Amino acid sequence: MIGELIKTADWKKEKHAPVIDCPDTITAGEEFVVDVSVGKEIAHPNTTEHHISWIDLYFHPEGEKFAYHVGRFEFTGHGESAKGANEGPVNTEPKLTVAVKLKKGGVFHAVSFCNIHGLWESEKAVAAA
Ligand code: FE2
Repeated sequence: MIGELIKTADWKKEKHAPVIDCPDTITAGEEFVVDVSVGKEIAHPNTTEHHISWIDLYFHPEGEKFAYHVGRFEFTGHGESAKGANEGPVNTEPKLTVAVKLKKGGVFHAVSFCNIHGLWESEKAVAAA
């Protein structure tokens, strides 16, 4: 099962674990901002050979059976160049910001993918006032 391949850990000790930053309590129907990043406490490498490729963000509304996809964020610049690996002018950092409106509270789930260390997840609960 794919779930068995998705690792989790304390982001303060494990550089692959994504970090979800948003308010603990939001107002239903009002826009707020969610930041998701990898490497907040311990920087993850960002090279052609070793980097974070993407982060998926999901929302699981409280009391519901299924999760909903908020968005996929692909980080595609990792120093690639015709001159060779790590010679390129762009290194996309694995950080994203998205504005969201929710009808009720629930749990955000972030899944990140390192090109050589696989899948990592974390979650954050949000209450709706
Ligand atoms: Fe990695």
